Amino acid sequence: METNIERMDLLEKKNQKAFEGGGVDRVKKHKSGTRLTARERLHTLLDPGSFVELDRFVTHRCQNFNMGEKKIDGDGVVTGFGRINGKLVYVYSQDFTVFGGSMSRTQANKILKVQEMAMKNGAPIIGLNDSGGARIQEGVEALGGYADIFLNNVMASGVVPQISAIMGPSAGGAVYSPSITDFIFMVKDTSYMFVTGPDVIKTVTHEEVTKEELGGASTHSQKSGVAHFAAEDDKHCLLMIREMLNFLPSNNMDDPPKMQTSDDPYRLVDELTNFIPDNSRKPYDMKELIKKVVDESYFLEVHQNYAPNIIVGFARFNGRSVGVVANQPQVLAGCLNIDASKKAARFIRFCDAFNIPLVNFVDVPGFLPGTDQEWQGIITHGAKLLYAYAEATVPKITVITRKDYGGAYCVMSSKHLRGDVNLAFPSAEIAVMGAEGAVNIIFRDAINKASDATEERAKLTKDYEDKFNNPYVAAELGYIDEVIEPSLTRKRICESLEMLKNKRDSNPPKKHGNIPL
Ligand code: HXC
Repeated sequence: METNIERMDLLEKKNQKAFEGGGVDRVKKHKSGTRLTARERLHTLLDPGSFVELDRFVTHRCQNFNMGEKKIDGDGVVTGFGRINGKLVYVYSQDFTVFGGSMSRTQANKILKVQEMAMKNGAPIIGLNDSGGARIQEGVEALGGYADIFLNNVMASGVVPQISAIMGPSAGGAVYSPSITDFIFMVKDTSYMFVTGPDVIKTVTHEEVTKEELGGASTHSQKSGVAHFAAEDDKHCLLMIREMLNFLPSNNMDDPPKMQTSDDPYRLVDELTNFIPDNSRKPYDMKELIKKVVDESYFLEVHQNYAPNIIVGFARFNGRSVGVVANQPQVLAGCLNIDASKKAARFIRFCDAFNIPLVNFVDVPGFLPGTDQEWQGIITHGAKLLYAYAEATVPKITVITRKDYGGAYCVMSSKHLRGDVNLAFPSAEIAVMGAEGAVNIIFRDAINKASDATEERAKLTKDYEDKFNNPYVAAELGYIDEVIEPSLTRKRICESLEMLKNKRDSNPPKKHGNIPL
């Protein structure tokens, strides 16, 4: 009869075997450079000692191509739960050393289990992806597994935060699970994402492109916007995810975390008094302004290199998490274009889904003109941003630092879209359009008839600027709650967040709206 010691011994041996993954050689090959194994990644991501593994001994059921003789415990994915700065999270980490981390029916079942636990228990789910795609030997069963995961991703969307890290290959339909999740982190040089790879592209279109150019971290974090973050290596990627989690609530019924801060909420920011250039055509760095007013100058920028004419990211005011959305006058003069509209709209909807207040800094001359933008549908895409602000019921605070013209005035969290607190600097210019454009239209005849058209235009432009390029017309109408000295920015935002902390607002009951996709 087996003794307890023998039973413990057996368990120990089985655990050891499972920990070996695809074996020493494959692990050695995988770990070239700074790549970590699936388990090392989880240990880096989670608080020390907090990881609890589930389904360690699960194996696949496939009999095709002698697969019945090739079974490896865990079947290419390590799943379970753990803590990040004390907060419960569910995790899965694909193990490339086991069948290339490929998605089998069994692997899908393991992932579905943690997804469902995350939803039931109201905790974020983080997926570390490193996989050759559908398990080729299994065929449609593997595809079914993927589709089941996609469905769970959609069900979990807006219920618990979902975060994806791409730490190796992610190709074909496999890209669609990460793309439904809220944030995608990629690792430079070692990860790539594409629907069809370089070989297929060459066959079909004769275009030659490398994997890195087609779908590497730089491509997706700058050109396509598919990835929100590009990390230097595995460790950097996992630490960034930990950092982001600190800003998020566990689920859609939870309040965002409130941290201790030694930064005085009523701190006056005197450097802002002369921060906005006197010449309104001169650019300045809106990120500098953000850093001057948030707690401890700490701003976690999302999508840093994509559509940099708008800035989005997380920060804190008096310890409270907020989502910051701001025009960047340094890039395209802060104009709204298609990419900026999509970037900000998705971020706003994330914040609204998870009860994170929005703090907006506005300096926007309007939507970017041109055939390129019109033909690609700026009308539809710009409407996404408008829609996202309009439907958001979280506290919305807006500070207009300088230009706020035309349609962009309406869109950027204006009073009319249920902005709660709308403030303006004395340098704000809130008008239907820029002065020069306006006089060219409404005074065309007068300018044409004048003996000196240039002088007449300059005079009329000056008159228009004096009348409209200020915050006071909007303030008279109550569209601006207060014109503030810039040094008061932090104080007013902190006071407003405190005032709005019990805000309750809702939208009419409906199945769902029809955002212009
Ligand atoms: C089964 C796979 C696999 C897969 C890799 N492996 N991908 N096994 N199904 N999809 C296995 C390999 O056989 C090998 O096993 C081990 O994983 C490591 O693979 P290598 O090719 O040696 O690694 P590497 O040279 O680094 O190349 C990685 C790779 C390549 C570029 C990802 O493996 C590859 O092209 N794989 C196939 C990609 C693919 O076409 N997937 C299916 C797409 S269809 P051994 O035993 O030798 O170590 C799809 C549809 C999803 O995914 C749709 C969802 C809706």
